[in-house]
This record gives sequence, C-alpha cells and structure tokens, in this order.
Amino acid sequence: MIRVAVTGAAGRMGRLMVKNIIEDSETELVQAYDIREVGKDAGELAGIGKVGVQILDAREINKTLDSEVLVDFTTPEGAVENIKAASNKNVKLVVGTTGFNEEQKKIIEECAKKVPTVLTPNFSVGVNVFWKIVELAAKYFKDYDIEIYEIHHRFKKDAPSGTALKIANVIKEVLGEDREIIHGRQGLCPRGKEIAVMAIRGGDVVGEHTVLFLGMGERLEITHRAHSRQAFASGAMKAIKWVYNVVKPGLYTMDDVLGFRNEKKE
Ligand SMILES: NC(=O)c1ccc[n+]([C@@H]2O[C@H](COP(=O)([O-])OP(=O)(O)OC[C@H]3O[C@@H](n4cnc5c(N)ncnc54)[C@H](O)[C@@H]3O)[C@@H](O)[C@H]2O)c1
Repeated sequence: MIRVAVTGAAGRMGRLMVKNIIEDSETELVQAYDIREVGKDAGELAGIGKVGVQILDAREINKTLDSEVLVDFTTPEGAVENIKAASNKNVKLVVGTTGFNEEQKKIIEECAKKVPTVLTPNFSVGVNVFWKIVELAAKYFKDYDIEIYEIHHRFKKDAPSGTALKIANVIKEVLGEDREIIHGRQGLCPRGKEIAVMAIRGGDVVGEHTVLFLGMGERLEITHRAHSRQAFASGAMKAIKWVYNVVKPGLYTMDDVLGFRNEKKE
C-alpha cells in the first residue's frame, strides 16, 4: 500500500482525492491537510463516512508530514510551502495546483532536485492527448490564425487556466516564431501574429478548452470537455502510483506518467 497524504483535503479536488485514495486497493490515506475544517474527519468531508483520518493544520506540515507521496491541490502560495515541506522530508510529490508565478516555479524546480515530482496543470488523459493533437495540428496550420478559449466554473481563482497557457505554449514551440500570447482584446486591435487566450467564468463548468485554427474559408476547432472532476482524480491516481516507483529526483509531467515521452517521433 502506498502511504499518501493530501493537501487541500477540504477543497473540491482534495475531497475527491481522499475518496479515490481510500477506495483504491493500492493506496492508503495516512494524512489529510487543509487550512480550514481542521479536526474534521477527511472521509466525512469527502462524503464517504468516517475514515479515522482527521484534517491536520497545513501551517504545521513541516513538523507533521509523514507519508510516501503527497498530492497537492491548493493555491500557489500554499502549494509552495507544502512542496518545500515534502522535499525536506523526502516525500514524493504529485502537484495539481495551477497559477504559479515564475518565482514559485523556480522554487518548485529546486525542490524537485531532491524528490521525484509530477507537476501538471491537467491530469486528465483526454487533455494530455489533446495537447498532442494540437501539437500535430499546429504543424499543418502555420499560416492560420490561432485562438484559444476556455470556460470554467465561477469559483476558479486563476485565469487563464494553466491548461490554456500550456496549449498556447505547445503551439508557440511548434511554430518556432515569436507569436505573442495576449489575453482578450479591447479597442482598436488589428490582427497580427498573436495567439489570444480568452477566459470565460461562470456556473459549474468543470473545464472546457477550445483551440481554433482559422483560415480564409474554413476553420478547424478542437475541443476538450471535462464532464466531472473524476477525470483529473483518475489521472492523479495514475501519477501517485507512477511516482512511487520513481527513484531519480526531477520534475516530471503526465507525458512521463502516461508513457508519451518514450514514444518514437515520426
Ligand atoms: N491539475 C489538474 O488536473 C487540476 C484539476 C482541477 C483543479 N486544479 C487546480 O487545483 C487547485 C485547487 O482546485 P479546487 O477546485 O480543489 O480548489 P478549492 O478552492 O475547492 O480547494 C483548495 C483547498 O486548498 C485549501 N488550502 C489553501 N491553502 C492551503 C495550504 N497552504 N495547505 C493546505 N490546504 C490549503 C483551501 O482551504 C481549500 O480547501 C487550483 O489551483 C485548481 O486550478 C488542477
């Protein structure tokens, strides 16, 4: 059994991870952390009844963390502290939190030099395949206008989504030219070579991303829709089991977990 701790255990993704870890025969929930709901039973919060694991105060994770893998779905500021604690205690990491700034990314890179760390803005298998399809499409649409829009629930804090930014960067990398990434448009703005990323927020939309390749007389649209957060949780469970067996410290992605990186290039 892989001994797993969850940070953000009272949140939307954290509660689902608690449920998945408990229901999986290969994983055991040993600790659950948050900065709210401290003292409550993690299973009760997750809607599966008492499991005997109480929510611990994440502000003390440095002293109390004791697991083999830590899975984090929190906030950028919180995640950085949790990641530091895990790397100090030699606990392997699976990080789903999004919205890190450059400074925070550097700290994570440093921590990952000590422990194997899977970091991805999207754990769903569908989105990871979607990135591959976008990469392929970009090769054939070099002269087309390219735009991205994403829709998420009203509670999402960061914008645009980490997934949308990754789509933009995948395209930029293929095109090998300086396509500026912009966020929305207002006023006089004749189209240049930019890739615009638009973020729509509202209701309970779990997550939707569309890339448009627009030419004269046609357009290709590629869309991914997450129907439920279970798509992310299932991917995160794969990452937990994968990282547990990794010995070499470093920053990994779902390309590694899903075996995409080893596939032969055409
Ligand atoms: N990578 C993915 O596939 C994926 C999927 C969904 C959401 N996300 C990201 O995961 C993060 C969380 O999303 P959510 O919808 O669960 O948010 P949420 O607001 O429902 O949950 C976040 C939880 O983290 C807690 N928290 C805040 N600071 C903390 C700290 N220092 N230590 C421990 N807990 C702390 C909050 O109290 C809250 O309970 C966001 O950044 C979101 O964009 C990633």
